[in-house]
Amino acid sequence: MRFAGKVAIVTGSGKGIGKTIAQKLVLEGALLTVTDVNKQTCEETALQINQAGGRAIAVEADVSKAEDTRRIVDKTIEAYGRIDILVNNAGFVKDARINDMEENEWDSVIDVCLKGAFLCSKYVSSHMIEQNYGKIVNISSRAHLGNPGQANYSSAKAGIVGLTRALAKELGKNNITVNAIAPGLIETDALLHHPKYEKIKELQKKDTPIQRIGLPEDVANAVLFFASDESSYISGDLLHVSGGRFG
Ligand SMILES: NC(=O)c1ccc[n+]([C@@H]2O[C@H](COP(=O)([O-])OP(=O)(O)OC[C@H]3O[C@@H](n4cnc5c(N)ncnc54)[C@H](O)[C@@H]3O)[C@@H](O)[C@H]2O)c1
Repeated sequence: MRFAGKVAIVTGSGKGIGKTIAQKLVLEGALLTVTDVNKQTCEETALQINQAGGRAIAVEADVSKAEDTRRIVDKTIEAYGRIDILVNNAGFVKDARINDMEENEWDSVIDVCLKGAFLCSKYVSSHMIEQNYGKIVNISSRAHLGNPGQANYSSAKAGIVGLTRALAKELGKNNITVNAIAPGLIETDALLHHPKYEKIKELQKKDTPIQRIGLPEDVANAVLFFASDESSYISGDLLHVSGGRFG
């Protein structure tokens, strides 16, 4: 029970990797704020956690909006009185080659993946500074190294690495660690239902030293390490969860 009594916010935890991170934190004793732009999946995830004997509140919020991120923080403080862990997980892709990429495709990916992490960190960190304790874990991607057709996403995920290093330097004196994870291809529902799933699986096996697609649990295990006191002397770091594949 590494997180007994600890309070965690996981953004984009209505489904996918974020949901697995939330569930694993709860299994080890954390009190959760499940937050997602999708009201239904957000409430369902919180309900499932509560029905399984854990404790979670649901906060529907769009992390790209300052007033929404302030609300996530206010509701968490109202429910639990403190915030120990923030996982900036919400994100999505909108792929296009650079000459076809629309301005709104650039803006929306940067706004959710990068600005969302900035806003949540901004409002959570004042509470963490007051407590002289905190763990911020940002979900980047192997795409931070640069993927064709993903100028927006690669830029946002590289930005996450810069944000992580800057905040680690700013907040270290307040006993707050800030680290990032760079997952490779992870088997979420969206991938499982992808029409080319079998082909993607074969390619992934061929190109990855550990010859399989990653699982949400693989990412969650790394997040829990950075969220725990086992990593108390590690900050500003980026851990690849990509089966040994870089680039
Ligand atoms: N799946 C992969 O292969 C993979 C690889 C590398 C990195 N990642 C990163 O992992 C994170 C989770 O991805 P996933 O695969 O679980 O995706 P997913 O689509 O399954 O889940 C993402 C969640 O974020 C929510 N979300 C989207 N926009 C939001 C917003 N504006 N505010 C709040 N919530 C919002 C969605 O509603 C959804 O519930 C993302 O940051 C993604 O970039 C995923």
